[in-house]
Amino acid sequence: MRSIIVHGGAWDIPDDAVENHHQGILEAVSAGWEILHRGGTALDAVETAIRQMEEDPTYDAGRGSFVNAIGDVEMDASIMDGAALEVGAVAAIQDILHPITLARRVMERSEHVLLVSEGAMRFAREQDIPFCTPEDLLVGRELERWREIRKIPDYSGKIAFSGVPETGMNAPGDTVGCVALDERGNLAAGTSTGGTPNKYPGRVGDSPIIGSGTYALNSVGGASTTGWGESIMKVVLAKSVVDGIELLDMSPSAAAERGISQLRDRADGYGGVIVLDARGEPGVAWNTPRMARGWMNEKMKEPFAAV
Ligand code: GLY
Repeated sequence: MRSIIVHGGAWDIPDDAVENHHQGILEAVSAGWEILHRGGTALDAVETAIRQMEEDPTYDAGRGSFVNAIGDVEMDASIMDGAALEVGAVAAIQDILHPITLARRVMERSEHVLLVSEGAMRFAREQDIPFCTPEDLLVGRELERWREIRKIPDYSGKIAFSGVPETGMNAPGDTVGCVALDERGNLAAGTSTGGTPNKYPGRVGDSPIIGSGTYALNSVGGASTTGWGESIMKVVLAKSVVDGIELLDMSPSAAAERGISQLRDRADGYGGVIVLDARGEPGVAWNTPRMARGWMNEKMKEPFAAV
């Protein structure tokens, strides 16, 4: 069954941002579904859906990314082809609107899995990936958020996701991701992010780490995660959810719930995960107040989206 699922972050999405998140998810699902519907590959569907959200300033990926501790945007992304266990990832890159496309180039045109920082950008130049200016990625909302965060003593990733008690401020985890299954039975998954707000320069989260942010294996399923990366990496969330399907014979929903329980119980973590099994059945779970998610498959008449 052709199938696609996307996420646009798990956090305390404010009421006035719900509509933008909902609309962005619908557009991303539709863009990816269009590829699958006309017989395209799962990889193309994942890349297309994520590019759509990287372009959209609503999310913490590409345009709209968070600002790090020295006022720069640094982004991470990964993509995985579940047919051959091929993977590509980039971390701590700057001035590129579509990190997911660069991750795919690493997968398809290099002998490596993960390139970071200057090396990744050197590879991008060799691959004729377009560069943009820092201002193309930095939106006023994030500059303002960064200024507010800088006023909070002892601000950290953990309080970003659990909420800053004195202020009620709850920083967004607007990482984006997608999992797709095409008509040939190939699964692909991808994730793209600007990381966490005010992160230390060079900090890398879960999103480009295969098994934590992204995983896909044709015979079992695929997953993409969002949330507080330092906790997600400790439970290798994406692979753990896929393992729930393979080793415990769980439904995608049950495997996703188990993964989020482990995130909370073992790592005191926060986040969300989307998953498809090898038949294209979707599952999703999160332990934050809201999660932006949506999906479409051959059993449905129109895409579903919710925040
Ligand atoms: N989940 C995104 C990050 O922590 O970087």
